[in-house]
Amino acid sequence: MEFPLINLEKLNGEARKDTLEQIKDACENWGFFELINHGIPHDLMDTLESLTKEHYRKCMEHRFKDLVASRGLDAVQTEVKDMDWESTYHVRHLPESNISEIPDLTDEHRKVMKEFALRLEKLAEELLDLLCENLGLEKGYLKKAFYGSRGPTFGTKVANYPPCPKPELVKGLRAHTDAGGIILLFQDDKVSGLQLLKDGQWVDVPPMRHSIVVNLGDQLEVITNGLYKSVEHRVIAQADGTRMSIASFYNPGSDAVIYPAPALLEREAEDKSHVYPKFVFEDYMKLYAGLKFHAKEPRFEALKASSVNLGPIATV
Ligand SMILES: [Fe+2]
Repeated sequence: MEFPLINLEKLNGEARKDTLEQIKDACENWGFFELINHGIPHDLMDTLESLTKEHYRKCMEHRFKDLVASRGLDAVQTEVKDMDWESTYHVRHLPESNISEIPDLTDEHRKVMKEFALRLEKLAEELLDLLCENLGLEKGYLKKAFYGSRGPTFGTKVANYPPCPKPELVKGLRAHTDAGGIILLFQDDKVSGLQLLKDGQWVDVPPMRHSIVVNLGDQLEVITNGLYKSVEHRVIAQADGTRMSIASFYNPGSDAVIYPAPALLEREAEDKSHVYPKFVFEDYMKLYAGLKFHAKEPRFEALKASSVNLGPIATV
């Protein structure tokens, strides 16, 4: 059982059917896959990587060290359960960019991040259509489902995981599933640490130069009524090396109404015992904010109880 590696270039030739099948298998059984030949220029990725690492060294590292010292984290004796060993900042691209407000970035860094985000947005939409094809949903269905009144929310979490003196006591990032739609990760090609939970075992997501790691968020689990699942993952802090992680989240707009695709429910007509809830995405996010590091099922249950106001899910 190998971690799924998908060569997107093969979609354009005879191997299209096999490649779609590999993506389908990864979505159904892993919730994760790694892409190569995804069309994002490697030199753009290299430039963003060096700018990100430089910005971390110049502007973020000392802040992180101060935080660690103020909390006495480098000398803890028991497991730390209320924080993560990571240094982060967030950039929003859609519905409108806030990159001009992010402090300490050079003009070049802002320009390169914008260009990268634009390419990733296109890749995310291309992937959503491949998922539609595999699910037997019309082209554009998922994009439309995420649209709401102002289009999708698209943003990037830039994280660095510095070397940790007590990796057995502090997680880089505690286990969670992602709340949103589809997530595209540009991760360090040397320092590992990302793991996903597969059949009760933590499996490493292998670092690979110029690859993009993709995973599915809770909203795709709801829309597919559980056919695809968001999968728990975590980051193990490392004793050596700083791990870079640039994770971009293509999520529904805040007022998008999320519910299982009627066409998929109809196909499962015999077994209607488990239908996921219908809700407004922003209500899900309010719930998630306090419960990120808890299991997702109680979130779905809580929203089921409050979903009556939005009307039933039509199975047409
Ligand atoms: Fe995550």
